[in-house]
Amino acid sequence: MSDTAFVKHSIDLNDADLPVAESCLRNQQPIFEVLQQELSDGDVVLEIGSGTGQHAAYVTQRLPQVRWQPSEMAENMANINAWRTSVQADNFLPPLVLDITQDLWPVKQVDAVFSANVVHFVGWDKVRAMMAGIGRVLKDTGLAIFYGPYNYNGEFTSAGNRQLDQWLKSRDPSSGIKDFEQVVMTARKEKLRLLKDIAMPANNRILVMQKYV
Ligand SMILES: C[S@@+](CC[C@H](N)C(=O)[O-])C[C@H]1O[C@@H](n2cnc3c(N)ncnc32)[C@H](O)[C@@H]1O
Repeated sequence: MSDTAFVKHSIDLNDADLPVAESCLRNQQPIFEVLQQELSDGDVVLEIGSGTGQHAAYVTQRLPQVRWQPSEMAENMANINAWRTSVQADNFLPPLVLDITQDLWPVKQVDAVFSANVVHFVGWDKVRAMMAGIGRVLKDTGLAIFYGPYNYNGEFTSAGNRQLDQWLKSRDPSSGIKDFEQVVMTARKEKLRLLKDIAMPANNRILVMQKYV
């Protein structure tokens, strides 16, 4: 199953019928463990491409001192709002409609940015737009944290990632798993420098970048 499948089924949270991406059930705890290390008390974190809103729900319940700003395309607002209603955490902010290709993003300065599984889901033009947008809204020295699969030296790191890439391209030929080195270079143009490249389960990575002045 791809990393993008959303299914509707009930999970044990206020008996709600919530949208669930199975991949999030697997990766939310390992991602949380990294975020817990990297984020600071009081941070406002912009999440890009929040999908179902599960990461927002998981993190806000465990890090009440962090204010989480989810964002997505308009069609996914209902999903994120359903999770927000269930969780009822003050630090789970109302989701914003944010298309990364917009020139104007509906946020001012944020302390950190998080995005899971968006870089491979979209084409390079959108990745460049996303990095440029992050460069505009992230405060100096703020962190940008990207979870997902990457290729190294032009090679897939697993058969599963190769299959995911084929599936991605079958629905959007411009999308697909990106080369780590090119992602780092693209980010660098927006004053984001790589601090950490962290191995995650299932051949995923977390790239932690910092905006430099
Ligand atoms: C693979 S899903 C990842 C969802 C979630 N972050 C997760 O890890 O489960 C990719 C997400 O990127 C979003 N997306 C695609 N194009 C986008 C754009 N132009 N601007 C903002 N989000 C976009 C999609 O709506 C989708 O929810």
